[in-house]
Amino acid sequence: MDGSGAPHEAVDQVRADYDAAPYDSHAYPQSAPGHLAAIAYLFGLGTPEVSSARVLEIGCAAGGNLIPFAAGHPRARAVGIDLSQVHIDQGRERAQALGLDNLELLTGDIARMDLAALGQFDFIICHGVYSWVPDEVQGAILSAISAALAAEGVAYISYNVYPGWKAKEIVRDAMLLSCGGTETPDEKVQSARGMISLLEEVAPADSVLGRVLADYQAVAGNAGDYYLLHEELEAFNAPCYFLEMMERAGGHGLAYLAEARPQVMFAGNYGAKVAEQLLKKCGNSQMLLEQYLDFVVNRTFRQSLLVHAERAGQIRYQLDRSRYRSLHFAAGVPPIDGQTRLDYSRQEYLEPGGATLFTNDPGIKAALDALNARWPWTLSWQELLDGAHARLRSAGIEAAADLQERIEDLLEVLILQGQTRFRLDPVLPRPLSTLLRLDEPARRMAELTRGDAYPSTFNLWHEMLPLSPVDGYLLSVLDGSRDRDALVEALLAIARRDLIRLERDGERVSGDAELRKTLAEHIDAMPQRLAEMKLLRISDVGR
Ligand SMILES: C[S@@+](CC[C@H](N)C(=O)[O-])C[C@H]1O[C@@H](n2cnc3c(N)ncnc32)[C@H](O)[C@@H]1O
Repeated sequence: MDGSGAPHEAVDQVRADYDAAPYDSHAYPQSAPGHLAAIAYLFGLGTPEVSSARVLEIGCAAGGNLIPFAAGHPRARAVGIDLSQVHIDQGRERAQALGLDNLELLTGDIARMDLAALGQFDFIICHGVYSWVPDEVQGAILSAISAALAAEGVAYISYNVYPGWKAKEIVRDAMLLSCGGTETPDEKVQSARGMISLLEEVAPADSVLGRVLADYQAVAGNAGDYYLLHEELEAFNAPCYFLEMMERAGGHGLAYLAEARPQVMFAGNYGAKVAEQLLKKCGNSQMLLEQYLDFVVNRTFRQSLLVHAERAGQIRYQLDRSRYRSLHFAAGVPPIDGQTRLDYSRQEYLEPGGATLFTNDPGIKAALDALNARWPWTLSWQELLDGAHARLRSAGIEAAADLQERIEDLLEVLILQGQTRFRLDPVLPRPLSTLLRLDEPARRMAELTRGDAYPSTFNLWHEMLPLSPVDGYLLSVLDGSRDRDALVEALLAIARRDLIRLERDGERVSGDAELRKTLAEHIDAMPQRLAEMKLLRISDVGR
């Protein structure tokens, strides 16, 4: 070990693990800089402009979480650091193929890099790294965030937490025990799976172990080898309590701002009894309240936002409605019975995740209708208000004098429950020609990954979009040069080479005529799929 960080052997072991079994590098929308800026704004803090921001990701793997940001913000700069040369080489290849000249990927150990040479960053992301590295590297990550974060910057860090991990550790410890003496990733996975089967056979269902195993199966039962290796069998996995984490961050001059999913911060979302007891017990301490909540919900994972400690005094957890006016909102909350009725009858709306919301206020119904009509894209505050007014006018209903406040009530509910996406900048699709053309980086990503085991691309909401093998090829040829017939022919050529397999009623389709028919059906259904993936607006497709 040198004076600056973790023992070399420990870091070498982490590097060797990732080089041997590289991590699938994805986009995480909850860490998108535009999302972080909007949350900071909601709770009272300004941030630097996202469109020209400097963004650092620590432990970026192959850059999968930086690529959508760099592609969507050409004036911004993104820098990713990762220990594994295998990851960085793959990421550089992808960035080059996508023509991204604002993304730089660097190989290195965060505990031993000269970060000062890279300058300051407006947003720093560290996802899925902190809990899986030695203690000294954890300290180095917090030091790096503290030193490299711009004065008004926001950092995102995810980590495993207790109490949820207490039970999960039993399963991990048992699997690790069984892996003693194994060498290769395959051997490790086999031993670990063997251990789980053995314990399931012998543990009574109503024992602590039986319940822990049932929970494990519910979350990870069908997960692939890859998940097992990197989530459960990683050499380091050090969960901690939320308050411990914040105390450690405080030691580095950093303060808690919020969670990346703000809905988990509010006791009211966990029932009246929980809210009443916790508010009594924790008073105004947001952090204490959240630690109590972690016990109530047995939380296993957190995605916390940090800022420089000097800014802690400006944070307000009471939502300031005047701030909504600078925000852009997107929500897909359709009426359960299909059509909006702009009258005083009770209507129920389906929220993502299955909960329902009801109202008999035509003003709220008009606002929800405006949001639904624009989903998955955003409406500014003013557009939302205007949209509600226009709908009421055309239904011959006089808008309530306090319509604006009612819509603010609605937005507050949607924000607190995590049912709306919001940003400081609009999120809108780029205009499309009728010859289908995807955003070029999204198309190229499909092209680059189409032969992989898990082809994928990304959208302007910073989401990773897994693709079926056929869609991997289909999306990669949507470059605006092909009409429907040409798309069928392009995919037919690919099917003839056995690169994709088409099935109908479980049977493999063969012969050109049948293949053409199946492909045409697949292509005809594509605009809807693209709209669902938030890659196109259905009205752009001109069907
Ligand atoms: C579990 S992966 C997560 C990758 C990515 N952030 C994600 O969530 O998809 C952890 C990553 O951290 C990197 N890493 C581990 N220790 C590191 C260190 N000391 N310095 C830089 N990167 C490190 C690994 O190489 C690996 O890519």
